[in-house]
Amino acid sequence: MVNPLRGMKDTVGEFSEKYTYFIENCSRIAKNYGFNFIETPILEETALFKRSVGESSDIVGKEMYQFIDKGKNDVCMRPEGTAGVVRAFITQKYDRAGGIKRFFYHGPMFRYERPQKGRLRQFHQFGVETFGQPSVKEDAMIILMLKEMFDFFNIGYRLQLNSLGCPECMPPYRKNLVKFLDETEGLCEDCLRRKVTNPIRVLDCKNEHCHVLLENAPILLENLCSTCKDDFNELKSILDDFGVEYEIDTKLVRGLDYYNKTAFEFVSDGIGAQNAIAGGGRYDRLVEFLDGRPTAGVGFAMGIERLMDLVKMPETKKESYYIGALSEDSLLKVMKLVVQMRKSNVIHTQYISKSVKAHMKAADKVNAKYFICIGDDELKNKTYVIKNLETKEEKSVELRD
Ligand code: HAM
Repeated sequence: MVNPLRGMKDTVGEFSEKYTYFIENCSRIAKNYGFNFIETPILEETALFKRSVGESSDIVGKEMYQFIDKGKNDVCMRPEGTAGVVRAFITQKYDRAGGIKRFFYHGPMFRYERPQKGRLRQFHQFGVETFGQPSVKEDAMIILMLKEMFDFFNIGYRLQLNSLGCPECMPPYRKNLVKFLDETEGLCEDCLRRKVTNPIRVLDCKNEHCHVLLENAPILLENLCSTCKDDFNELKSILDDFGVEYEIDTKLVRGLDYYNKTAFEFVSDGIGAQNAIAGGGRYDRLVEFLDGRPTAGVGFAMGIERLMDLVKMPETKKESYYIGALSEDSLLKVMKLVVQMRKSNVIHTQYISKSVKAHMKAADKVNAKYFICIGDDELKNKTYVIKNLETKEEKSVELRD
């Protein structure tokens, strides 16, 4: 028997119902906020992710599904969505046109991580990206939109916020941090490596011993330049104004290298160790890094698998019909009726004549709301009975209606 690869799952059964329900409703909300659907290829040049997500990140350093294709191109299955959307933004020359563009996307992402609950090698994200809006009001808006999505599904969360500064305040802070790290003994191997490649990632170390050693590390939030400080204060005050609760996490640095200023994560308690359900922030220099014209960017992505256990489907039955044929002669009539009614309704049927009892069983299985059976008598009398399976009410209807 051929099994799926480790850390990869089929989208099927209850998961698939919830998945489509989730995508439909998040897409609806994103459209209401002015975002347009975008889909970029799953496979991109490896260089795209190295230059955006960053060589020092775990994603690029350890987790890429990277290979040489038949044309000898170095390619990679996308580990996240932002890099591809930024690449598409530049490919379409939107950076030259100026103005504001907003996109949403969903689909599979690939990271060769150690699989565990909430951590897969192929997982799905729903994400949004805004280009050309440097105002922190956009950061607030996308956080409010994400909150609206979680509220719609009744998903509880905690919002964690930080600011990662800008090219003015980050370099002096980094210098300060490296000095502190140089004077600190006993850091783990990962931290020593990150001290050289991207020192702020040290703050994110999961090692308990390093946590203690880093307790007195300099804090970026206390060393922001005046613009970053003002922006962060404005973001907090907008969130306060809208009644959005948040926690300040001065060690939240995110696992991807492209961020500046706002960085945030939504976490959910009670779903296990992998509790980050969404993450995002600002990346004002990424378009430029990828050879586009300087354009501000901000966005987020949710991990759909981590959310599925928290999403409850609405109880009401779908407005669907089950139509069954009771005789060979009525089968063609049923097929014609089904094709006609499918223009505006969800219709279940079986292309075989059976007894009423057998059809009823099938209708129950597909959770139909209305039940109709057509046999020789119905054809002769030109009427049939339509039964509401919820209320058990029956109504006689003329065949032509
Ligand atoms: P990220 O934090 O790497 O950010 O991923 C976003 C979300 O994807 C996480 O919060 C988590 O829910 C989910 N996720 C990540 N890895 C896995 C995994 N192995 N298995 C299951 N779920 C996972 C990004 O990807 C950025 N592109 C977000 C962004 C968009 N920033 C700006 N715009």
